[in-house]
Amino acid sequence: MKDIAKDPHRQYNEIQPDTTVGDLVVRHPLLRPYLEQLGLDYCCGGKKSLLEAAHQAGQNWPTVMAVLQRALELEPEGNVGTNWNTAPLIRLADHIVAKHHAFTKEQLPRLDGLLSKVQNAHGAQQGEMLGHLRRVYGALRAELEAHLIKEEQILFPAIKGIDAFMSGIGDRPVFHCGSIFSPIRQMEYEHDSAGKALAELRQITDNFRLPADACPTFEALYDGLKDLEADLHEHIHLENNIFFPRSVGREEEMNNKDR
Ligand SMILES: [Fe+2]
Ligand SMILES: [Fe+2]
Repeated sequence: MKDIAKDPHRQYNEIQPDTTVGDLVVRHPLLRPYLEQLGLDYCCGGKKSLLEAAHQAGQNWPTVMAVLQRALELEPEGNVGTNWNTAPLIRLADHIVAKHHAFTKEQLPRLDGLLSKVQNAHGAQQGEMLGHLRRVYGALRAELEAHLIKEEQILFPAIKGIDAFMSGIGDRPVFHCGSIFSPIRQMEYEHDSAGKALAELRQITDNFRLPADACPTFEALYDGLKDLEADLHEHIHLENNIFFPRSVGREEEMNNKDR
């Protein structure tokens, strides 16, 4: 059998029309900016094939293949940070909260304040667009704030309890909800909803294109929204494509332990 690790054309084999976007990003996290640039959804749409995601983004397949192949060729060899596919789940949960939840909690009110200032200053010329932006942003903020609380207070402690028990450092956890499967499904549903709201923000703002009379606050608002979007894409990718599937697997191991 051919040894894939020693195959100099190994990377070319990975970019196939039926490769799922999520699998590709799990194996090659450094491809994320290239997927962002192509407009391919790798977090909520991680279960889609590359071909499907390319069609959805309005990109043709040869372009997508060429960009991703080139990116794989440029990918540095060796250690590129923590491998979240194998790191302890407890560490991954703490990383998500410390990095992504903290960032989101800080940015949501900050951007809300900037949006209010921009509405006050530019309401006469951009009132309709800014009103639409306010409605979508307001709903996204409310949903995300509630979402983070549910993850931090219910789901993540449950997952950490399973991982602690399976690692021999805790008692067997008892869940009132039966399994972590249904809260995970609910979180994935909310990720889809956040993903749609982010896409709507782009559409409303014409891809964050500033009007000719934009002030520095307007610019700071659009820069902040872009940063929020990029961070949420990475955050949702980590949960949907790595943390949640691994947690479901860990719970199955626990259930099989006594059988
Ligand atoms: Fe989260
Ligand atoms: Fe989440």
